[in-house]
Amino acid sequence: MKIVVFFSGTGTNLRSFLEQEDDLSYEVVSTFTNNPKANGIQIATEFNKPCKIIDHQDYLERETFDQEIYKYLEGIDFDYIVLAGYMRILSSFLVDAYEGQIINIHPSLLPKYPGLDTHKRALAAHDTHHGTTIHFVINELDAGPIIRQESFPIEPNDNLESLINKVKEIENDIYPKTVSEYLT
Ligand code: GRF
Repeated sequence: MKIVVFFSGTGTNLRSFLEQEDDLSYEVVSTFTNNPKANGIQIATEFNKPCKIIDHQDYLERETFDQEIYKYLEGIDFDYIVLAGYMRILSSFLVDAYEGQIINIHPSLLPKYPGLDTHKRALAAHDTHHGTTIHFVINELDAGPIIRQESFPIEPNDNLESLINKVKEIENDIYPKTVSEYLT
């Protein structure tokens, strides 16, 4: 199974995909970012993977930017697009073009807290549990069919930073494995 990994920032999930590539059933054929300053670019380079950079700030409209992504994707042979901390909403034409082929990981127990600031919102609501969700992407934000969810209890001494770290640790562990096991 051939995958393209999209990221916008730190890239811990990207790293995890690349580190486990030899042991799992996918091949990372390319990587993509909208952010020329993303740390993930160094990670892709470290693993000798191509990294396509298209800066979204060079485009006034999302659709025009996504047309460039579409051109890039049309030049690659892949089965799935794996969003790993990709912080842009995809245009509907792009989601439609690759229906059922785009996977995302979202740092909350969906349907709770779609969108941003999920950890903050879980703390503010005094939730007993927090977690992460792997799901298919549809044309509604963070709302597609759920593939896997993993939760953990929020401890009394948890704060924003500890929640971010706990979620990422789980994500780094389950995201590559889940893509490998559940998708063919
Ligand atoms: C992850 O927590 C993911 O759920 C969210 O953005 C974060 C990306 O982290 N969408 P990283 O760039 O993979 O370290």
